[in-house]
Amino acid sequence: MTTMVQTKVDDPTFWLDYLTADDQKKMDDTHAETLNEVRREVATRTQIFVGAGTCGFGAGAGKTIEAIKKFAADHQLEVDLVQVGCVGLCAEEPLVDIQMPGKNRLSFKKITADKVEPLLNSVLFGGLPLGLILGQYPSQHSKAWTNLPYIDEHPFFKRQKRMVLSNCGLIDPENLSEYLAYGGYRSFLQALKNLSPIEVCDKVIESGLRGRGGGGFKTGMKWKFAHNTPAEKKYMICNADEGDPGAFMDRAIIEGDPHRVLEGLATAAYAIGAQKAYIYIRAEYPLAIARLKKAIADAKEMGLFGENIFGSGYNLEVVIKRGAGAFVCGEETALIRSIEGRRGMPIPRPPFPTTSGLFQSPTVINNVETLATLPLIMGDSKFSKLGTEKSAGTKVFALSGNIARSGLVEVEIGTTIREVIFDIGGGIPDGHKFKAVQFGGPSGGCVPESFLDLSIDYETLQSAGAMMGSGGMVVMDERTCMVDLAKYFMQFIQMESCGKCIPCREGTRQMLDILDSLTHNRAQTPGTEALTRFKAVTRLDELAHVIQETSLCGLGKSAPNPVLSTLKWFRDEYEDHVFDRTCASGTCRDLIRLEIDSELCRNCGLCAKKCPTNAITGNKKEGYRIQLATCINCFHCQDICKFEAVVAG
Ligand SMILES: Cc1cc2nc3c(=O)[nH]c(=O)nc-3n(C[C@H](O)[C@H](O)[C@H](O)COP(=O)(O)O)c2cc1C
Repeated sequence: MTTMVQTKVDDPTFWLDYLTADDQKKMDDTHAETLNEVRREVATRTQIFVGAGTCGFGAGAGKTIEAIKKFAADHQLEVDLVQVGCVGLCAEEPLVDIQMPGKNRLSFKKITADKVEPLLNSVLFGGLPLGLILGQYPSQHSKAWTNLPYIDEHPFFKRQKRMVLSNCGLIDPENLSEYLAYGGYRSFLQALKNLSPIEVCDKVIESGLRGRGGGGFKTGMKWKFAHNTPAEKKYMICNADEGDPGAFMDRAIIEGDPHRVLEGLATAAYAIGAQKAYIYIRAEYPLAIARLKKAIADAKEMGLFGENIFGSGYNLEVVIKRGAGAFVCGEETALIRSIEGRRGMPIPRPPFPTTSGLFQSPTVINNVETLATLPLIMGDSKFSKLGTEKSAGTKVFALSGNIARSGLVEVEIGTTIREVIFDIGGGIPDGHKFKAVQFGGPSGGCVPESFLDLSIDYETLQSAGAMMGSGGMVVMDERTCMVDLAKYFMQFIQMESCGKCIPCREGTRQMLDILDSLTHNRAQTPGTEALTRFKAVTRLDELAHVIQETSLCGLGKSAPNPVLSTLKWFRDEYEDHVFDRTCASGTCRDLIRLEIDSELCRNCGLCAKKCPTNAITGNKKEGYRIQLATCINCFHCQDICKFEAVVAG
């Protein structure tokens, strides 16, 4: 059903005359009709778009697509069905947009397969299901729907600055012509034609772009180091290993707009003088890999990669390398080893990869979002004017956890945490109360409610004991135990530590043991060994600093962050676990003291009969009691009690 509009834009030479901003305007005017058709802004038949990123498929988009195909076949409808990437509003998926000839594109939410028939029946044959409408897309080329809101007025989109994500959810990621019609590959071709590699480095330095992979290192500077290192061969690597729990920005960018990442990668490779570029992508991202593969093949066929690109004399080969399945392989020196076919273990720096990296050659590694930002920087100076003095531009965040509107959010750097969580994310659902937000996954830190008005930028978050990280933002409400959260991240790090250096391997083990002792063993009643536990918490602090200072790589150096930030902001919760042996959120099940509510209990005695440790004593006449000293918190009594008489004390 999907058609590919064959136009002049598919001819590579077409682009060579249209490289500057003025040219672009000229071209937009001259070829408006063609471009609007390729951009699907003007269509002679109905276009149906389905949000088909991994998140969309997870919500049922696959079945929605099948139902649309069936509806079209049953009704002999001529429609174009376009699978687009993640639109961003993951909480409302599956998302379906419908654009009828001459009318604005309309977006509908939660269109599971069962809703397809009623939706299409009403939209195509009369009437609109108002409750399902997210909004209409503004367009100069079609008529607006009266009395319907615009999508950019929706609270989720209103405060965002979608620049890196501008194509995600809008265009067909598998159609190179569409990317080109939206100005794609122009900045790369412009660089090839009009700028020397060092001029490209300088332009990126001037833009103030900082790496989006977590460290925030100045991108142009890194390129310049590699550019200035004389060598026969150099390599460019895109880091798409994205292993942080709670992070899905890079996956969504690749799935929704793979050519943008490739364009950034090609520009970077040209700037540093590399003729081979790798994309190191986690194997658990099959859809992103498939879309990248197609994008590379299509770009190569068009002459955008390969030998003597557009007669410039520059050659570029782009290769995909699947990740080895370890979090540490995202660390740049481990990643390099993994590409070389060795075990992914970090090595000490210096030398930095820009001096001696892949196969001992100068190598630059950049994150997916960093690379996807480049077409904006090379082609448009607006991006650099956004942000704060020290951090230019926008940042994409993966917003998840206890939040009403989870999804992919792009905001200007410097936006406050409150704006992202409450204005864009819609706050905490079901009347619960905001407690904290964790930035940057296991290497990051959390900030409490009192910091909601902090600006999201590298320096400010660091001053609050957190970090911007690569973009994971997990929101928590009062039902989250912060000691348990610290334990979760420590468990993750302990499992993912490569074991090479002792502070990380052994230190994180010791920290985990301490956290384990705080959240387990309710049998240690208040007072018992409280001093030992208190000393252990003090030791957590000491261990954290030793691990930070002596670990070999970023994994170990940042491993204690979640513990340190929870200790800093939620010390009272640690104290509850240490002294009172309680967990206010009820998360640490071992610390729950079960008791039998005599009003609800019918004295049937089933709990006493089934208790594996005979911790329930009493009889049918006098009732039953749980003996805390022998109870092992297996919750068996609670599970079998028909009268819900076994309750947390
Ligand atoms: C344990 C560990 C895992 C990492 N994982 C990633 C990752 O998945 N993606 C990424 O871009 N950077 C990751 N990094 C950071 C990279 O080492 C590197 O700094 C980054 O790719 C540089 O890109 P940028 O300058 O564009 O930010 C990780 C670092 C550590 C210590």
